[in-house]
Amino acid sequence: MAQNLSRKILAAHLAKPSEMIPGEEIYLKVDQTLTHDINAVMTYLAFEQIGLDRTQVETSVSYLDHNLLYLDHKTPDDHIYLQSVAKKYGVYVSRPGNGICHAVHVARFGAPGKLSMGGDSHTPHGGSIGMMCIGVGGMDIATAMTGVPMRLKMPQIIKVNLTGKLRPGCNAKEVILEMLRRNTVKGGFGKIYEYVGPGAATLEVSDRVTITNMGAELGATTSIFPADEMVRKFMKAEGREDQFVELGPDEGCTYDGEIEINLSELEPLIACPHQPDNVTTIREVEKKKVQQVLIGGCTNGSYKDIAKAAMVLKGCHVHEDVSCTCAISSKQIYKQLLRDGYIEMLIDAGVRLLELACGPCCAIGQSPATDGVAVRTTNRNFKGRAGNPTAKVYLVSPESAAACAVTGTFSTAEEVMGDEVRELEAIEEPDFYPIDDSQLIRPLPPEEAKKVEIVRGPNIAPLPVPDAPGQHLECKVSLKTVDNITTDDITPASAEFSSMRSNIPFMSQYCYHRYDPTFAARAKELGKSIIIGGDNYGQGSSREHAAINPMYLGVKAVIAKSMARIHKGNLVNHGIIPMIFEDPADYDRIDQMDDLEIENLRDQMAEREVTVTDRTKGFSFRARLELSDDELEVILCGGQLRYLKNELRQMGVIE
Ligand code: F3S
Repeated sequence: MAQNLSRKILAAHLAKPSEMIPGEEIYLKVDQTLTHDINAVMTYLAFEQIGLDRTQVETSVSYLDHNLLYLDHKTPDDHIYLQSVAKKYGVYVSRPGNGICHAVHVARFGAPGKLSMGGDSHTPHGGSIGMMCIGVGGMDIATAMTGVPMRLKMPQIIKVNLTGKLRPGCNAKEVILEMLRRNTVKGGFGKIYEYVGPGAATLEVSDRVTITNMGAELGATTSIFPADEMVRKFMKAEGREDQFVELGPDEGCTYDGEIEINLSELEPLIACPHQPDNVTTIREVEKKKVQQVLIGGCTNGSYKDIAKAAMVLKGCHVHEDVSCTCAISSKQIYKQLLRDGYIEMLIDAGVRLLELACGPCCAIGQSPATDGVAVRTTNRNFKGRAGNPTAKVYLVSPESAAACAVTGTFSTAEEVMGDEVRELEAIEEPDFYPIDDSQLIRPLPPEEAKKVEIVRGPNIAPLPVPDAPGQHLECKVSLKTVDNITTDDITPASAEFSSMRSNIPFMSQYCYHRYDPTFAARAKELGKSIIIGGDNYGQGSSREHAAINPMYLGVKAVIAKSMARIHKGNLVNHGIIPMIFEDPADYDRIDQMDDLEIENLRDQMAEREVTVTDRTKGFSFRARLELSDDELEVILCGGQLRYLKNELRQMGVIE
């Protein structure tokens, strides 16, 4: 039977036979895992506790790429721990300076048809080369490293038929912003977007990464392109053509839905504060004075992106009121840009080059000024994401960002370059990249690895493990949130906060710090509590600290109108019960500090429906548990670590 590309790859990785019916649980063999420094310490602490002596997947890579601003001892402590633990367990390390995880992973490890799990929501970046890449929480990575299959609710597969060709001055960013404009930040729940058609064939891998990477902002499970001639060119340029396999949808295959986008009709777009789906055209947006521009990041930090930005800036200068920085996504891209003269163009124009790292994208340096308007080529513009809640962050393409840097207001490349904008069309990815893997540390042979001592500085605190829920829960509502709460709201980003992530007792004091600075103390004093959430609770970054910190503060359940996939998984893994209001109107009847009571909790959980009584207001309401049998079991036994160890013991894998 004719199959689409996504079903083909998923079918090839099924660990248990399945009809792969959307909404039903499937189990998948994982080929590769990816972690990065500001989320990974919890992952490896969990893996240590499991007791296996080596990762059980083909390739595991630990990237040190997000927080390279060593403000004090904490981040260097983390990096030394991560480097030593990787050596111990057969994991590659990509050292600081090698580049941003997704860019390096697709270039040096990715291959069509593989299935990769990453402890980062933008892991779908690798879908650009016909690979199935899914973002998950850190505990899921530790689980995958034991060789236990990944469980996933079978997504719907949506065809995105691209026709036409991008006009000069337009970027693949326009495609994903158009997807967000049409489908919103919740539109991708339970879906894989499969990009095909004649327009897709015109996009190079560096264009495709922008689209698959930022599919995370749609809430999608992942996004994927066929492995075609563009992917062959990329793999050849990476010196890995031998790992290329042609992969695409079969003629006459079916999908669960279809979207049409004509690339020729797109014009430069801009996502306005504070959500990536708040999209309009640059032509129509209210012109504002721009204070800061950031070009680069994993979404738009490719060779072609930076070269095009440099061409827009060529012969111009960054406006005197604008601070313009550039974060190129990898060392090899930097070297190629240097060879081709683009770095000089950037420097001449007054652009400040940053480390080859995430940096400002997750508020590690370069925060905008008070009330500052920041224009960024990154993927998120949530309030506070850039490190300053008063800032207004707008998302655009590198071409448009460079134009904004020149004019000091929202502008397009065409407005700056005039007819010369056509020159941008000639810029393509190189035929060969200056490959240099000297910043990669390869896994040690098993016998040598066993002798490695793990280095644990004072910043590395033990991983807290939740208790199993009891039969009776009576507690107050410690927090009631609005819709679209992000994991950045729950666990703030910045150099300072990121460096606390290895120490939960310390970091939990800052839980919800920017949203409600009184929350942590209140939750701690209550001892146990419930959070009431709105729609799309926990969207954004995959950081599981947004579950671990509330768990540590005694949060037993989150009852929301709806919940983002990765965050829901993280809550389950860390023993917090995720519940969905059966009638969303009940949300309006509950207030912070109301007394809630759930009787026979464990028995009710088994029915996937729970009656909650609001003792303060004197009414009861129903909440659903949208959990698989395994997920339910995980919560009932006190989180994924306890569950997994039980499973592995029963299988005789550990003692
Ligand atoms: Fe890094 Fe930002 Fe991408 S934090 S991985 S550059 S989304």
